[in-house]
Amino acid sequence: MAAPPAPGSFRRAAPFALEVDGRRFDGAMALVAAPLAELEAAAPDDLAPDEAALLTERLAPARRQSLLAGRRAAKDALGLLAPELNRRDIRVLPGLFGQPVVTMPGRANVQVTLAHAGAAALALAHPEACPMGVDLERFVPAHLGALREQTTAREREAVRVAMPGEEGLQLLLLWSLKEALSKALRTGLTVPFALLEVTHLSPVPGGLTAQFSNFVQYEGLAFAANPFVAAVVRPRLALWREGKGSALPVRLRDWLGALATLG
Ligand SMILES: CC(C)(COP(=O)(O)OP(=O)(O)OC[C@H]1O[C@@H](n2cnc3c(N)ncnc32)[C@H](O)[C@@H]1OP(=O)(O)O)[C@@H](O)C(=O)NCCC(=O)NCCS
Repeated sequence: MAAPPAPGSFRRAAPFALEVDGRRFDGAMALVAAPLAELEAAAPDDLAPDEAALLTERLAPARRQSLLAGRRAAKDALGLLAPELNRRDIRVLPGLFGQPVVTMPGRANVQVTLAHAGAAALALAHPEACPMGVDLERFVPAHLGALREQTTAREREAVRVAMPGEEGLQLLLLWSLKEALSKALRTGLTVPFALLEVTHLSPVPGGLTAQFSNFVQYEGLAFAANPFVAAVVRPRLALWREGKGSALPVRLRDWLGALATLG
């Protein structure tokens, strides 16, 4: 029997669907947080041997935590798309650019995008045909100056108007949207930051939607629940379908709020 979750543990997962001109794309998202000891204890049931091999003795505890939390979130999301599979049959290994690459018996062209922030991790499983990216950040006051430097005056003004509030969270929303876009593109933040410029921000409850100056085919959605910020980038034409309960954006906003209450 699995051990009960430790204090500070958090685990949510839900399927979602996107639609473009009647063509449906199924995916799933998971948000988790757990102490390192809990993740280490679950690792033998969670990881395939080549994933476990990533956990070398030389890894710092913070990286063990992020790697394990990320794999837990990824497999919680992927498992919703392939419930017949054992978690150890689902493999998420780094590609040449560090991007997560999924292999699952009997399923082709399913990928995952993931992010971690401290003990928490966010993952989104999606069809390869529908490239997506996520980011999850925790606000650190010492990073305020650096965040300011990575934005243009136009972006700062746009975010002030779209989501009045604390400057730190506003800047982190911009950062997070760009990082999520960079993951959908598979470049990561190796490209000039200006290329990822955010434009046309519109308010939604708890967050905002964004378009990108140079990547008009994508749209971003970001939520803030102090100290956390999360962003999801998806093809702009792919519209969220309402599922049972609520659509995924509403869920993500609510999950983030619940995570924030854990501190
Ligand atoms: C992608 C990137 C912005 C993520 O930054 P981070 O501070 O590690 O932040 P996050 O926690 O939000 O995301 C980490 C996850 O992003 C994913 N990721 C890493 N590189 C990625 C890429 N190129 N494309 C898409 N996703 C990527 C991974 O799943 C990683 O988690 P994991 O290593 O546990 O699997 C950053 O790693 C980056 O810019 N990488 C550059 C890619 C590169 O060229 N690396 C050279 C490797 S030789």
